[in-house]
Amino acid sequence: MVKRSLRKILGAVLAAVFVLALSGCGKGGEEPGDGRLVLGFSQIGSESAWRIGNTKDIEEQAEAFGIGLMLENANQKQENQIAAIRRFIAYKVDVIAFSPVVEEGWDNVLLEAKEAGIPIILVDRDINTEHQGLTTCLIGADFYKEGVMAAEYLIRKADSMGLTQVNIVEIAGTANSTPMRQRQAGFMDTIKDDSRMRVLESIDGDFLKSRGAECMRYLLEKYGDSIQVVFSHNDEMTIGAIPEIEKAGFKPGNDMIIISIDGGQEAINVLKEGKINCVVECTPKLGKALMETAIKLKNGEAVEKLIHPAEQVFSDETDVSKIEPRGY
Ligand code: AHR
Repeated sequence: MVKRSLRKILGAVLAAVFVLALSGCGKGGEEPGDGRLVLGFSQIGSESAWRIGNTKDIEEQAEAFGIGLMLENANQKQENQIAAIRRFIAYKVDVIAFSPVVEEGWDNVLLEAKEAGIPIILVDRDINTEHQGLTTCLIGADFYKEGVMAAEYLIRKADSMGLTQVNIVEIAGTANSTPMRQRQAGFMDTIKDDSRMRVLESIDGDFLKSRGAECMRYLLEKYGDSIQVVFSHNDEMTIGAIPEIEKAGFKPGNDMIIISIDGGQEAINVLKEGKINCVVECTPKLGKALMETAIKLKNGEAVEKLIHPAEQVFSDETDVSKIEPRGY
């Protein structure tokens, strides 16, 4: 009983905070509902430079398009995202967008949004649902292709070094998340017919720097100098792993081939130092496409089902000193 009334009070406070936040971003003191599109966006968390850059880009683009943005950070928890979506429905936003932390478990809340007539945009990651037509589109990277590009680099590198056997450890992203599943699939599908490639172990690093370090310590203890390649699913985990490799007496980028994904500034700096060999870009700049799509949905126009941004590979195969500042 007490819990329920506390929840009610919290709901009212949050709604008031939303209104204040929205009126703050209006032009010339406009109130939400003055014809301005209101977009509710549930962000996964702040686990990486990528994620922080993605949030900043969405905020900047909402401002540039004159869209009222209700942004909630779920701190890596699916239940927080579900609660945020329910608040957006209660507030009657025009469009809801979210970056799902994992792929499963969204049917109920998305059915509620559908019943309320609010269109849903997936940003960055995909979901699996039992019901059809719960979302309108997905704006995010082609993670499978990123895995393929990482593996293609490795094959070229192994050729250039004349390696006859290549022992790989994989530090993977959050279990059951789209980037983890698809990056792994793209990488494995590409190396599977190359008899030199052997994956010693794949381990879950949850896209976090601290977990990257932990995973690397474990892998070094278990496999030591047998490790020739570290394939890490994001920069954060790579940056966590590198000092552990050094502490164990190895030179990252030299004694071990280091492959990362994202292309944030910190990782690019480490690539320039020669401690990372290859970084596959995953751009967090999805805000513009998100705003354009939200406007189309509000106007009842058709939208593209899948929008993948163009991405590139940064590696020791080219002059890395020429890489432009990354902005995240
Ligand atoms: O979903 C994109 C991934 O999530 C990025 O590679 C990672 O850094 C982020 O946390």
